[in-house]
Amino acid sequence: MLPPRSDFPPGFTFGAATSAYQIEGTAGAGLSHWDTFAATPGNIMDDSDSSRACDHLTRWPQDLDLVRDAGFGAYRFSTSWARVMPDGVTVNPEGLDFYDRLVDGMLERGLQPFLTYHHWDLPAALSAQGGWQNRDVAQRFADLCLAVNARIGDRLASAASLNEPWCIAWLSHFIGAHAPGLRDIRAASRAMHHVLLAHGTAMQALRADGATNLGIVLNFETSHPADDTPEAARAAATQDAIYNQWFIRALMGQGYPDAALEGIGPHLPDGWQEDMALIAQPLDWLGVNYYTRRLYTGSDGLWPSASEAPGPLPKTQMDWEIRPEGLTEFLTRLKRDHTGDLPLYVTENGMALEAGADITDDARRVQFIADHLRATTAAIDQGVDVRGFFYWSLLDNYEWGWGYGPRFGLVHVDYDTMTRTPKASWHAFRAMLS
Ligand code: NOJ
Repeated sequence: MLPPRSDFPPGFTFGAATSAYQIEGTAGAGLSHWDTFAATPGNIMDDSDSSRACDHLTRWPQDLDLVRDAGFGAYRFSTSWARVMPDGVTVNPEGLDFYDRLVDGMLERGLQPFLTYHHWDLPAALSAQGGWQNRDVAQRFADLCLAVNARIGDRLASAASLNEPWCIAWLSHFIGAHAPGLRDIRAASRAMHHVLLAHGTAMQALRADGATNLGIVLNFETSHPADDTPEAARAAATQDAIYNQWFIRALMGQGYPDAALEGIGPHLPDGWQEDMALIAQPLDWLGVNYYTRRLYTGSDGLWPSASEAPGPLPKTQMDWEIRPEGLTEFLTRLKRDHTGDLPLYVTENGMALEAGADITDDARRVQFIADHLRATTAAIDQGVDVRGFFYWSLLDNYEWGWGYGPRFGLVHVDYDTMTRTPKASWHAFRAMLS
């Protein structure tokens, strides 16, 4: 059972989230750097790609019905950069037609459209020019936002520039687990800066264009030392700076954290300090994605000299520890250290769980959601202005480097027949919200 809706403030938004590349299928879109990454053997666990994904491109009316019928009032979705601008520069009106219909479909169903302009599918043509390592990407991204805003901006309830810049920059250019799959501190450092520059450039352009209710979605992950050595404490603190402080500090005009600058600073583009004012554009809200915590030990390797260690808590299908109190901690910490009275949204929270013999039985997910909803109200009780909670994800979908194995959905997807089957968690939301 989920907590009653009356535990939340009046007007609190409940929604479900997806992203274009993970559900649409790529027909009609230009090549993205995720297509080329997935085509390289060894990059995706099950060697799959997202060419068909959940076939949302044709099945979107049924998917929006599922959002509405669960009782949600909002739907968080993203536009595919490679669909809107297949070569990274030229607008494809048919690509925009799709989002035009989709947004109208939301409004017809009484759903508030929460857009994310970019959720990782960078056009391959831009990647070939250096992608996030190339400063020009900032203006290209602003152009994307303006093109999308011109077509659907009049009907949006809310818009985020980027989803999870840590993944766009660090996971993709330093850890190498996401496209373009680099393991290069210099490339990563440039991407860490340019992704924020892109946000600032786009925000300024969107405001000038009359767009309202603008934010950004960041991911936060608790970083704890795995033992009591000073090396582990230092490793965890460095990870915290890279992951949980780099972006929010820059966005709030607090400057990059020293513990991250130590390794990243020498590789930043010349004159980066002059971009910091543009990066710190006013925000109307901040989106918080929260899933797990990680434990770190010190390592002899190069900076950031940290290795991950397994934790003792129960885990999801991703092997991610389940720790709901981390969500309360981040929401309260954000208010205290960075965001003050800025409204916050939990823009993603969810768990991957294998499908059992009964594909609708996801009692562990219902428990996970209940615990994280309570963690959210705990933060509200402590004075944090949390305005909404979006479950990730509406559908089982393409989990990036993990392929189709992890199932995050409230709704099961049979990838052979594309049949959608609501799980117990979908029914639990329906019982709570209807
Ligand atoms: C974060 C990302 O925004 C989303 O694309 C991903 O599927 C989920 N977390 C789960 O890993």
